[in-house]
Amino acid sequence: MARIYNFSAGPSMLPVPVLEKAQAELLDYHGSGMSVMEMSHRSSWFDDIIKETEASLRRVMQIPDNYKVGFFQGGATQQFAMVPLNFMTTGKADYIVSGNFSNLAAKEAAKFGEAHIVASSEDKNFTYIPDVHTIAYDKDASYVHICQNNTIFGTKYVDVPEVAGLPLVADMSSMILSEPVDVSKYGCIYFGVQKNVAPAGMAIAVIREDLLGHAADNVPTMMNYTTLLKKDSMYNTPPCWCIYMTGLVLEYLEHEIGGLANMQKINAKKAGVLYDYLDGQSFFKNPVEHKYRSMMNVTFTSPNPDMDKKFCAEAGAAGFVNLKGHRLVGGMRASIYNAMPAEGVDKLVQFMENFRKKNA
Ligand SMILES: Cc1ncc(COP(=O)(O)O)c(C=O)c1O
Repeated sequence: MARIYNFSAGPSMLPVPVLEKAQAELLDYHGSGMSVMEMSHRSSWFDDIIKETEASLRRVMQIPDNYKVGFFQGGATQQFAMVPLNFMTTGKADYIVSGNFSNLAAKEAAKFGEAHIVASSEDKNFTYIPDVHTIAYDKDASYVHICQNNTIFGTKYVDVPEVAGLPLVADMSSMILSEPVDVSKYGCIYFGVQKNVAPAGMAIAVIREDLLGHAADNVPTMMNYTTLLKKDSMYNTPPCWCIYMTGLVLEYLEHEIGGLANMQKINAKKAGVLYDYLDGQSFFKNPVEHKYRSMMNVTFTSPNPDMDKKFCAEAGAAGFVNLKGHRLVGGMRASIYNAMPAEGVDKLVQFMENFRKKNA
């Protein structure tokens, strides 16, 4: 079996035992004589899958009972519209812009009401997170929106905003399930699944019940959380395969990793190896203010763009793929999500050191 070290920002690596289980169940899921890709979403097999997947997510994330969980098509980008369409009841909301995706979320919200950018880290090319303690939030805002881990810039919030009385809405696409999160601090957590959860094609939202039921009548059915949740995410045909794969990943996290606290330890160790290496030499540089460094997306540059190109080409040939940084940042980015094995990071660091010696 030739598995490669895939540092893609998403879609990303999935755990090998999960892929093996999906493979083993592919032709005949639990005696049904068909795969999950082929079966009716109204079948008893799929009914069990979606119920158990939600139950697993609730256990793994310790989601309180007053939160609903929904599985939605359209990715995280569709959530950028669904959030204001469902929650912007006062006609305005506060957005903290800490990178590309929070900026896109604010722009989308501005189509439906006033999206106030209450803080931004654009002045330093998003290499830090704005100080959430000094922001003047609008007490009439319907919610405060953040992107908690910035996939492209490799930053992450240390503290989440304490927004007394205002619901906090967080895009956690690139950090979900990488560490424990206190769900009760949030009004809504949403994430595209294609990094730490499942193949691309779905977003999951965890929503506090009191925020539901306030969307205007003209909100399209497929954008209305309340309508979709009343039908347990089966108003229409749901992304069955993604839901099934989500269930397998959660089962793996729960029973083989031992939950999110253990996952966090593993992830912190992996990220530590890479950041320690970056800090111990001066050929490669990580531009992010240290305390805001992401545990999932590690950005770095070599001395110049031509060297970056050479690095990516040679790394690819050596079995370390998708290390090219996003075009907004340049350089390199190693996305080291849950499924990246520790040895992938160790070997990448060895490769970087050999490259440095040859090229410094
Ligand atoms: C933090 C974050 N938010 C939103 C998105 C957009 O997700 P999607 O492609 O699922 O719409 C991404 C994609 O990489 C992301 O990293």
